[in-house]
Amino acid sequence: LRVVHVSVEMAPIAKVGGMGDVVTALARAVQEEGHHVQVMLPKYDCLNYDEVRGLRLAGDFFFANVQVKVWEGEVEGLATVFLEPNNGNFWVGCIYGRADDARRFGFFCGAALEYLRHHAPAKPDIVHCHDWATAPVAFGNPEAAPVFTIHNLNYGADLIGRAMAASAVATTVSPTYAAEVSGHPAIAPHMSKFFGIRNGIDHDIWDPTEDRFLPRNYGVEDASEGKAAAKAELRRRMSLGAADVPVVAVVTRLTHQKGIHLIKHAAWRTLERGAQFVLLGSAPDPKVQADFNVLAGELARAYPDRARLWFAYDEPLSHLIYACADMLLVPSMFEPCGLTQMIAMRFGAVPVVRRTGGLNDTVFDVDHDGERAAAAAFPTNGFSFEGTDAAGLDYALNRALTAWYNDRTAWTALVRRIMEQDWSWSEPALDYIELYYRALKR
Ligand code: ADP
Ligand code: GLC
Repeated sequence: LRVVHVSVEMAPIAKVGGMGDVVTALARAVQEEGHHVQVMLPKYDCLNYDEVRGLRLAGDFFFANVQVKVWEGEVEGLATVFLEPNNGNFWVGCIYGRADDARRFGFFCGAALEYLRHHAPAKPDIVHCHDWATAPVAFGNPEAAPVFTIHNLNYGADLIGRAMAASAVATTVSPTYAAEVSGHPAIAPHMSKFFGIRNGIDHDIWDPTEDRFLPRNYGVEDASEGKAAAKAELRRRMSLGAADVPVVAVVTRLTHQKGIHLIKHAAWRTLERGAQFVLLGSAPDPKVQADFNVLAGELARAYPDRARLWFAYDEPLSHLIYACADMLLVPSMFEPCGLTQMIAMRFGAVPVVRRTGGLNDTVFDVDHDGERAAAAAFPTNGFSFEGTDAAGLDYALNRALTAWYNDRTAWTALVRRIMEQDWSWSEPALDYIELYYRALKR
């Protein structure tokens, strides 16, 4: 198969959230199965050019009277095509967040269609589009079977509805989220071609045995030593106390989706219980940021050596935090899949999550989900809660911090279990390949 992903995010060169991770990791996994895979992306000025190999100008064409340069390069072993319109559309210092995002990405989609139809060296079989920003490619007749993946239905639902209608096959990123959105007007008419496939994570990129951002690499056998070294490093960097207490961490975009009120509540509750609380968060909304600045001040006064809120988007630091965490909290209001809970497990951090979307498909409560886990052929691997108020979260966090963490034998066995779980793309990629063939037949 020849598969082209058209996307506006791609890790590690243009990553905003999990969609960038998924595009790269899924493309790599399908390529490893022997297919020909390419990714198409706008050529942003803010690309991380250090991670692009062999970038070269391959040609140009005109679309809507604008010259579009075609660049080729390699990212994480993937052939990548960058479109650079000569009108400054992508020389704005960011990926999203401008009033004219829809217009800019609309132009990219038009140019991508023109390229695929008339200028690409070979016609693809499958054009795989991701979320609202590339929906116009799916419904613009790309002259290949369009496959559309919804990473988040909360943005651009009208565009997504049109892409759903035009696509041969559509997916979203977990079975539970697929069920949760099944009544949505953009989805309901298309249920017969709509599938929920759980995301994976790239086991090469998220691998504590080889991670270059850790002070000491570790695997299942020496997890406690590796995590202790990571904790020492983080505590030094963040001027936190060195007492032997558990670390509860959060790594997130700070948006409504991620359960802001529960994150704040969890900070206080963690500290009351004697543990340390570390948050790595980036807030696109200045009001949310201001609110968290107040919280950071309050926490610093009340618990100077046990709490740190670190406001940044910092990939290397995120690796260190996953490694040092004993528990990773993900109290999302909704979560199409969520990657941080899977990354956490890989690093031996036990997830504490709200039971929604993909969190429900990946985290099986050690006290309550034995049967459900067995049915999914998964081990129990974390703590979960329902509802949107603090009571549910308290119940899950208390069980983790008190009953379980203090039982060292049980905790060590749990950490071992989660580190051994396979969250790679190898299985989900096969599901996608099967859907690609199904799309070709339609
Ligand atoms: P979403 O895409 O909704 O933000 P996911 O859990 O699917 O949520 O993916 C989040 C990705 O972004 C993960 O790779 C996570 O490590 C990363 N991430 C989130 N916030 C930050 C941050 N502040 N700094 C560094 N990485 C972050
Ligand atoms: C979106 C969702 C997240 C998902 C990611 C990758 O950003 O919010 O839940 O994991 O896409 O599919």
